[in-house]
Amino acid sequence: MDRVLTGITTTGTPHIGNYVGAIRPAVAASKLSQDESFFLIADYHSLVKGDDPDGVARSTLEIAASWLATGLDTESIFYRQSDIPEITELTWILTCMTAKGLMNRAHAYKAAVAENEASGNKDPDKGVTMGLFSYPVLMAADILMFKANKIPVGKDQIQHVEMARDIAGRFNHHFGELLVLPEAVVGDSNATLPGLDGRKMSKSYGNTIPLFADEKPLRKSIMRIKTNSLEPGEPKDPDDSALFAIYSAFATPEEAAAMRVEYANGIAWGEMKKKLFEYINDHLTPARDEYRRLMAEPGHVESVLKQGAQRARAISSPFLAEIREAVGIRALA
Ligand code: TRP
Repeated sequence: MDRVLTGITTTGTPHIGNYVGAIRPAVAASKLSQDESFFLIADYHSLVKGDDPDGVARSTLEIAASWLATGLDTESIFYRQSDIPEITELTWILTCMTAKGLMNRAHAYKAAVAENEASGNKDPDKGVTMGLFSYPVLMAADILMFKANKIPVGKDQIQHVEMARDIAGRFNHHFGELLVLPEAVVGDSNATLPGLDGRKMSKSYGNTIPLFADEKPLRKSIMRIKTNSLEPGEPKDPDDSALFAIYSAFATPEEAAAMRVEYANGIAWGEMKKKLFEYINDHLTPARDEYRRLMAEPGHVESVLKQGAQRARAISSPFLAEIREAVGIRALA
């Protein structure tokens, strides 16, 4: 049996790109598989992004409510990183096993340094906190704490999983085979969706469609999606159309094939936008209603997370005791 673990950083409001790329496949997997699934809300990771306390708190509620509203299987262990003190404790132990040179190679850190160099900064580390630099160690602790072997992630996170593997290998070499070496799983499910401007849908491009926008703003967003200047009646290329890409991420293969025919027949952009809105809106309405209900009841969401934490700590607490023993942090008598 595999133990599958994934984390979601609490930055921002979930958008339909997150839903299609991460939430939906993970929720589906949690229901189907015989594996044990762990879903962690990585709130400590979000502190790396800066100083927006209310934003972190709001995003934690929004993300928890989104995952619950889209039907996360209740058998899976769903918890908040900061409710598991063993994770942060393990982070320090792993930090002492992590080569600084390994962290120097992390993409996010290298990008920050490259940006400083490009803008002629004297200090290549300007604006780099130890949080940003050590981010992969905290993520390694998330994974290794629960002996997870399969880690579904987007392409940008593969390096972090490999680093967790390296760190675990070094730990085991010194202290015995306690940690399980994890592996990244990158499926098509991590496919990306185009945003309003046709580029990858991403918070950093400001081109997202919020997952649980109300009907009116949802319609407005969809009306803003970029199209070309082809007139009604002119054949259009579905493979070069953000509208089609988004539609087919929700539609069945048969519906997508039928839509291809409509493109060939020259469907008007206005008509296509209307169809896309109606389709997505119908698809999301039940989950959106549940989301609204959960957002209005933060106390309920809190208690769900606390129950998840209890189940998670039943694993992390005894395992951390073993790890402490192994590294020499022991009772004296
Ligand atoms: N760093 C991941 C991201 O930004 C989120 C994350 C935190 C994570 N802890 C994790 C992913 C553990 C997988 C496993 O996407």
